[in-house]
Amino acid sequence: MATSTIHPSHLILLSSLLLLSFSSTSSLAQTSFRPKALVLPVTKDISTLQFVTRIHQRTPLVPLSLVVDLGGRHFWVDCDDPSYVSSTYSSPRCRSAQCSLAQTNGCGQCFSLARPGCNNNTCAMGPENSVTRTATGGELASDVVSVLSTDGSNLGRAVRVSQFLFACGSTFLLDGLARGVKGMAGLGRTKISFPSQLSSAFSFRREFAICLPSSTNSTGVIFFGPGPYKFLPNIDASMSLGYTPLLNNPVSTATSYTAGEPSYEYFIDINAIRVEDMPIQLNATLLTINRNGNGGTKISTVVPYTVLEASIFKAVSEVYISKMAGTNVMRVKPVKPFDVCFSSKNIEKTSIGPEAPYIYLTRQNQQPVWAILGSNSLVQVNNEVMCLAFINGGANPTTSIVIGAYQLQDNLLHFDLAKSRVGFSSTLLNVGTSCAKFNFSAIGH
Ligand SMILES: *[C@@H]1O[C@H](CO)[C@@H](O)[C@H](O)[C@H]1NC(C)=O
Ligand SMILES: *[C@@H]1O[C@H](CO)[C@@H](O)[C@H](O)[C@H]1NC(C)=O
Ligand SMILES: *[C@@H]1O[C@H](CO)[C@@H](O)[C@H](O)[C@H]1NC(C)=O
Ligand SMILES: *[C@@H]1O[C@H](CO)[C@@H](O)[C@H](O)[C@H]1NC(C)=O
Repeated sequence: MATSTIHPSHLILLSSLLLLSFSSTSSLAQTSFRPKALVLPVTKDISTLQFVTRIHQRTPLVPLSLVVDLGGRHFWVDCDDPSYVSSTYSSPRCRSAQCSLAQTNGCGQCFSLARPGCNNNTCAMGPENSVTRTATGGELASDVVSVLSTDGSNLGRAVRVSQFLFACGSTFLLDGLARGVKGMAGLGRTKISFPSQLSSAFSFRREFAICLPSSTNSTGVIFFGPGPYKFLPNIDASMSLGYTPLLNNPVSTATSYTAGEPSYEYFIDINAIRVEDMPIQLNATLLTINRNGNGGTKISTVVPYTVLEASIFKAVSEVYISKMAGTNVMRVKPVKPFDVCFSSKNIEKTSIGPEAPYIYLTRQNQQPVWAILGSNSLVQVNNEVMCLAFINGGANPTTSIVIGAYQLQDNLLHFDLAKSRVGFSSTLLNVGTSCAKFNFSAIGH
């Protein structure tokens, strides 16, 4: 059994100089070829509705499926798995620059045979399963990671990062994740998340974009680095984005965290909602992040449907229902987990999804940032019924609006970390393409 002890008395802060010199040599890119951008494929798991990506890691390289966690602090993988065999695995020594980059201090020991996940003088990490909200302890590790490059339209060659940092998780931490998955890919606002390590390894501008597929048998895409972000037939989705600032939440929203740690999730400035032409009356306090870290709006890929605080849910659904009623669509008995459902008989199906009232997320007195059309507001639950794809989050949730994955499907979201803002395309169906239309066809990897 592996246990680790941490000696906080050994806490040493490295100079910012060391940090700086490290970030330019960290995740060493092992190639002279300089990619323009990188891509990861994303699929939707049919039984959990989680979004799964695939990378290659270790020496020799093995394919690895990981659940995409937009707000996750880092990449973690099950190191207890005896199939973790790699000649390039290493665990950075405690008090090293890598530990500092990962914001972990102290020195961990492991009283068992040395193997990936069990070494002495390592830095302790707290890998988290953000679906079940379970966390554990494990060492900071590094190994080779290989991903595919792109020019924004087609696939290019695979490129390697020789010392990609991640946390070692345990087998039990996989409980509740999609079958076959070995960990999670965190894309959050830390220095060791996927976007940060890839942009520092290849000197990209700090930006990435996600485009989740709407079907379980198609493949969406995550881009790292600058656009274009092109989809067949030659549509650059980076051309039609509405932006809103990223906000900082001073209090961590993770399962386990140290006092004073901020949230690394993506909180955005949205403080008004409209359904068609009708402004929704909202309690403004709920839409601001207070000093305890409560309130506000965040985006999550591990929550399947957008969750709204009870009074917001009620206000939005009442106006949505009244707009639907004008189109002779009948309300029917709700189907779990939804509260508001309709007979789909009189809901017209168009090329851009079911005909439904548009929901606009906006900022006070400004142009809408994001229009949510029927393809992202209604979900078909059986042959006769469609439901409003929002969940009532009850009174006093930590975060008032958690924008979930169903609302993100077939939308391109551009996370421009350099400018601290997020861009929304609204549904790509509207411009004649979808997240499934990135050209992934190429020979081998
Ligand atoms: C770590 O050090 C302890 C004490 O010296 C030793 O018992 C243990 O076997 C070592 N663990 C590993 C993984 O080398
Ligand atoms: C899966 O793909 C097939 C064709 O490739 C399509 O007919 C079917 O509707 C798709 N299934 C779903 C759930 O979208
Ligand atoms: C608005 O929400 C806050 C936070 O939940 C609550 O304390 C306050 O009473 C609410 N105001 C109204 C008018 O409902
Ligand atoms: C898709 O990519 C492949 C491989 O790069 C290329 O041969 C093919 O022409 C592309 N398809 C289209 C429609 O652009």
